[in-house]
Amino acid sequence: MKIETQRLWLRDFGKEDWEAVHQYASNAEVAKYMIWGPNSEGETKAFIDQQLAKQQSTDRTDYELAVVMKETNQLIGGCGLYINETNAEMGYCFNPDYWGHGYAAEASEALLKFAFETRHVHRVFATCRPGNTASANVLRRIGMTQEGHLREHMWHKGTFHDSYLFSILGDEYQSKSRGG
Ligand SMILES: CC(C)(COP(=O)(O)OP(=O)(O)OC[C@H]1O[C@@H](n2cnc3c(N)ncnc32)[C@H](O)[C@@H]1OP(=O)(O)O)[C@@H](O)C(=O)NCCC(=O)NCCS
Repeated sequence: MKIETQRLWLRDFGKEDWEAVHQYASNAEVAKYMIWGPNSEGETKAFIDQQLAKQQSTDRTDYELAVVMKETNQLIGGCGLYINETNAEMGYCFNPDYWGHGYAAEASEALLKFAFETRHVHRVFATCRPGNTASANVLRRIGMTQEGHLREHMWHKGTFHDSYLFSILGDEYQSKSRGG
């Protein structure tokens, strides 16, 4: 699986990617709003192994992809699309050395294109913790609408967490792509 954007490749993870992933997955600032992390080496390697197994699935619904800069071949983050019939959830996580350059938005737009134009889903949604302004900005930037605030719906890292819920529907995506 490989998707090309202007500056990036989104491609399946390989076994050798664990070190580049671990560079950001072991960072407490990166993991602050995530359900997982900061990772031990074993946890990052287990994550990669899980992805290698999912890549073998014949009716694949989970696409966890490495984000790689075309120019340097540097792995700068990861993003994912998880399809459940007509709905798909999207997520992403980047190495802080590469934050603030529009890479998350560029990768997410490519995932939306894949979801709506190749997999023909009806709705793509994403959640972020209310304090995660950077992520909420990415989701708005790619045309998603905040449709909800889920209150203390999730328990992890010793406490309950709220989430903002964002989504975009197929017809909204089509009219946005047509420049509407
Ligand atoms: C959230 C994250 C993916 C954003 O990645 P990024 O590549 O820096 O995002 P982009 O450069 O595409 O930024 C898109 C928008 O967010 C804004 N933004 C980026 N970092 C920001 C920050 N720290 N605070 C506020 N806004 C921010 C950009 O200015 C841009 O807004 P604009 O389109 O209005 O100019 C990145 O911060 C990250 O990996 N965080 C840790 C993991 C995480 O929280 N993942 C999301 C879980 S829901």
